[in-house]
Order: sequence, then C-alpha cells, then structure tokens
Amino acid sequence: MKVLIIGSGGREHAIANSVAKSSKVDKIYCAPGNAGIASLAECVDINAMDIDGMVAFAKEKEIDLAVVGMDDPLVAGMVDALEAAGIRAFGPRKNAAIIEGSKAFSKDLMKKYDIPTAAYEVFTSAEDAKNYLETSKYPIVLKADGLALGKGVLICNTKEEALAGVDELMLDKKFGSAGDTIVVEEFMTGREVSVLCFSDGKTIYPMTSAQDHKRAKDGDQGLNTGGMGTFSPSPFYTDEVDKFCKENIYKKTIDAMASEGREFKGVLFCGLMLTPDGVKVLEYNCRFGDPEAQVVLPRMKNDIIDVFEACIDGTLDKIDLQFEDNACVCVVLASDGYPLSYDKGLPISGLDAFDDKDGYYCFHAGTKFSDGKIVTNGGRVLGVTAKGDDLKAARSNAYAATEWVTFDNKYMRNDIGKAIDEA
Ligand code: AMP
Ligand code: GLY
Repeated sequence: MKVLIIGSGGREHAIANSVAKSSKVDKIYCAPGNAGIASLAECVDINAMDIDGMVAFAKEKEIDLAVVGMDDPLVAGMVDALEAAGIRAFGPRKNAAIIEGSKAFSKDLMKKYDIPTAAYEVFTSAEDAKNYLETSKYPIVLKADGLALGKGVLICNTKEEALAGVDELMLDKKFGSAGDTIVVEEFMTGREVSVLCFSDGKTIYPMTSAQDHKRAKDGDQGLNTGGMGTFSPSPFYTDEVDKFCKENIYKKTIDAMASEGREFKGVLFCGLMLTPDGVKVLEYNCRFGDPEAQVVLPRMKNDIIDVFEACIDGTLDKIDLQFEDNACVCVVLASDGYPLSYDKGLPISGLDAFDDKDGYYCFHAGTKFSDGKIVTNGGRVLGVTAKGDDLKAARSNAYAATEWVTFDNKYMRNDIGKAIDEA
C-alpha cells in the first residue's frame, strides 16, 4: 500500500520509521518531511496546512492511507477533507480535534463528564478575567484557548503577573486569535506523565507511558519549548495510576466525545499530573506527542498499519497492543538560542553512526538538504534516541550517542531522565 505522512518533525520521522517496518507498505510519501524522513519516504513539498494541495496530491498518487501527524491540520479539518475525497485517513476529524484546538471546550467536557482536572473559569473579556484575578489564589495558570505552539500557558506567581498575562494573551494578542478566549486554572503540583492512546471511537488502548521535558534548560529552568527530551516508560505511572486512569479518564473521555456527537478516532494524548489529590488531566492533544512518539513507537511490537486501520475501521478491540519490556530515552539536540533565535543551515556530521537494529535512532526534527549535505533547519534539530534494558541503560546509551553527531551551536539538556533516579 501507499502511505502519506503529513508533517515534518521528529514525531513524523518516528511514525515513518514504524510505517517503513510494515510488510504491507510499498511506498511512503511525506509532506513536507525533512532530510531524515527522506531516507524512508519520498518527501513532497506541500505545506502541512495546504489542505487542497494535500488532497489533490493524495488523489493523484492514489494514496491508500494518510496519517496526519500534526495538530494544526487536524484542527483545521485535514481528515474531513481527505475522507471527503475518498482517501482513508488516520486522525480525528475536525469536530473531535477540537479537544486540543480549544482548551475551553476540553475543560467544559471534563467538567460535564466528571473527568478529574484542575478547577477553572473561562473568560472572553479581559475585564472579567481581571476582576476574577483580584480575589484568586496564587500561583494561578492562564491558558490561551486555541493552538499556540505549546506556548500559550502562563504560570503566574502574583496578581501583577496574572494581570499582565491577561493583557499579553487577550489584548496584545501574543498568540493571535488563540487568546480571544482564555482559561484561568488552579495551579497544581506533581509529576507529569504523557499517555498516548489509540482510539477507534469506542475502544481506547493506552500505549506505554512517557515523560517530556518542556523547559529549555537543565533543572526545568528557562523558556518553554516543544520538548527537549523524553523517556519511556515513566516509573511514576504505576499499575495503580494506570487502573485509575482506565476507570476515570481514557474511556470516559472517548465516551464523552461520542455522546457529544464527536467520535474520536486517532491518537488521544492525555497529559496527566500526579497531584497530591490524585491524577488529573492537564491537557488533551489530538495526536502523537513530539518527542513522546520518538520513545514510545520504537517500543511498540505491533505492525503500526494494523493499528491505524483498526482505529479507522472501529475494530481496535481485535488488536492486542504490545510494547517491549525495555526502556527508551530521547535527547533533543537543538540549536543554541532555541526557542528564541538561532542560526540555521549549519552542516551536520555523524548521522551514519545510527542503526535501528542496535536500538539507536536519530530522528530528524529540523533538517534539510543543502548542496547534497544535511544541514540544520530548525530550533530542534535531531532527537537522539536509544533503547536499553532499563531506563538507566537507555539514558546512558542515548547520551553516549549524542556525542556521535556534531554541528555548530549544538545544544542539549544534560538532565533528560534525571527523574529516573528519584523513582
Ligand atoms: P499544557 O499545554 O496545558 O500542557 O501546559 C503546558 C505546561 O504547563 C504543562 O506541561 C505543565 O507543566 C504546566 N501546567 C499547565 N497547567 C497547569 C496547572 N493547572 N498547574 C500547574 N502547571 C500547569
Ligand atoms: N510533547 C508535548 C506535545 O507533543 O505536545
């Protein structure tokens, strides 16, 4: 079969890597892809948000299955458009992708269906939000309702910070119309766990757990980023936590979506916080996490095409989802200066050292070809990933492998997986 993957980051490289292992797949296209994905797929220069262009390409090439990796095209209705043109597509339709596209929607859903989450209020007027903040407890959390590249969340320690935050989101429109509505949320504490789940709308299976590191600098300092590294599984996601989530979160969420006439098919990513008052949902995403996919998918034993098709066909209950009994760590190599400003176009060497068979992967996030050579093309450049028998072994393998690759201004966190030592 012919598969089209939509997106261009490390997550899409990890998806392509799993798709390439399927015996059912003859040809992979990726739009727009990157220099690493190009070793597995034919990359086509179509912007991931160009819905008409994507549909036309999928029809022309008679694509059997399209896999939408990124949030923005899902929220904009890429799956609906592909389906309308007769192309099978993996991912939620627009009316279900709203679970990530609107934080107010997802909070209201959780409240209505009694799914544990932080207390909150929704505001569409800056004045009302400011009045509310006069008497709130601090710290408090402000969230832009819409998509903001993972950066629309402000943790405010004081009333002054919160009032300035309202200005930033609602009046200065730092994230455009994403800030027309804001959610003001109770501040919670605890460890975070990412659980990506496959759903066919009726059945939902959690994948193995993972943990991201969102801040740019060691010790969770510095600015929020798209994610600087991950490990899987999370030792804090115990059987007890899993049982609680299966009873109170995963199935309840897709049943709630079905009740609302918004059948959720695809990957439901549950961002969880293990608070002193129990497990709470921090956020939902409507797709694989990046860089969570990079540590979860290499550990999956199933043929990923079987799982994608079962989600589309509503037969996920027939799948026995299995993960390897090992661990995986991904360390992101970024360009120094990310997430603010950084150089691009710097040549990368050492990429040939990686071999999947040995459990080492170099997933490309921001790379491209220039004069036949691979150069940096983004803030996050590579996701150096390694398996190990356990988390400590995987971490030491991943950090050893970060030495194999060189480029000017290479920057990474040195404490990815430090939490493992506290387990
Ligand atoms: P989100 O995009 O909603 O996952 O938020 C980004 C990050 O902000 C999360 O990964 C948390 O670290 C933090 N965060 C979000 N909501 C809260 C909250 N209610 N309390 C504490 N931290 C939060
Ligand atoms: N790693 C967090 C995300 O993909 O949103």
